[in-house]
Amino acid sequence: MKIAVTTASGNLGSAIVNHLKREIGRENVIGIARTPEKAKSLGVEIRKGDYNSKEDFLSALKGVDKIVLVSGMDHPDKRILQHRNVIEAAKENGVKKIVYTSIIGSSEGNAFSPIVASNRQTEEDIKNSGLQWAIGRNGLYIEPDLEYIDNYIKDGGIINSAADGLCGYTSRQELAYAYFKLATDEKLNNKTYNLFGEPITQYELTKAINKAFNTNLVYKSISVADFTTKRKEALGEFLGTVIGGIYEGIRTGKFNGISDFSAVTGRSHKSVDEMISEFLNK
Ligand SMILES: NC(=O)c1ccc[n+]([C@@H]2O[C@H](COP(=O)([O-])OP(=O)(O)OC[C@H]3O[C@@H](n4cnc5c(N)ncnc54)[C@H](OP(=O)(O)O)[C@@H]3O)[C@@H](O)[C@H]2O)c1
Repeated sequence: MKIAVTTASGNLGSAIVNHLKREIGRENVIGIARTPEKAKSLGVEIRKGDYNSKEDFLSALKGVDKIVLVSGMDHPDKRILQHRNVIEAAKENGVKKIVYTSIIGSSEGNAFSPIVASNRQTEEDIKNSGLQWAIGRNGLYIEPDLEYIDNYIKDGGIINSAADGLCGYTSRQELAYAYFKLATDEKLNNKTYNLFGEPITQYELTKAINKAFNTNLVYKSISVADFTTKRKEALGEFLGTVIGGIYEGIRTGKFNGISDFSAVTGRSHKSVDEMISEFLNK
């Protein structure tokens, strides 16, 4: 039983490869990467796969039974076609099952919605592929907030437009465990699952960060327009707009919901404190 994982050089792809390796043995795991040399240290067979090239995936998926398709990073309209390259190549190669890492959020109503809409289209493409499938809708990664700690300290607090919106956070380690289950447990086939922990506010996130990092940050909410302008100044038009849209989504409840993590994995999702502690001890 060979399971291939795309974007093996990335944070989520490599976490899934490492988890699968431990559970089913490295000889059964294939990492697919746009830049194969970046994934060599994973210690599994690495094959080349750029989402822009169906030919790459026609070769990379030879002899593969199941694929974990990690969502791409490109502009939303390009992503749909890139993911279709993988789905088509999987069909033509006789791959039996596709597991897709999608995202929670709303496909309408904020500046992040075009990305969510592109993920929903890939979900539909997978459901229509005729293959077995399982889809996870990931909550927001907690790691970027933790990696941003020096900036938060410099700013004296966490400042964004989420107000008191609840957000379901997760970590790539937690997701890796869930995707191992989705790839290997056939009872989970042909369903879509929300994957995140107990939703929290930015006030609770700030409190958890203060406790772990011994800081005195405060949370301050500003308007969607002001936050988006600041993010665009710092990150450029595309990424600034996306981040502005994410926090608008949190403010309006689009990243809140009921998680299926324990139904997928058989255990509770780690708490925010546990995820931060795991991050600090890695
Ligand atoms: N839930 C969240 O909070 C959240 C946040 C950010 C992103 N995401 C989504 O989750 C995905 C995985 O996140 P991550 O943290 O693992 O991202 P990451 O660490 O930045 O990794 C991105 C990966 O995508 C690969 N890639 C980029 N363009 C590609 C292409 N044309 N063909 C094949 N591979 C390509 C990169 O390969 P190279 O090494 O060759 O560059 C890299 O391996 C992202 O792609 C995005 O869709 C989710």
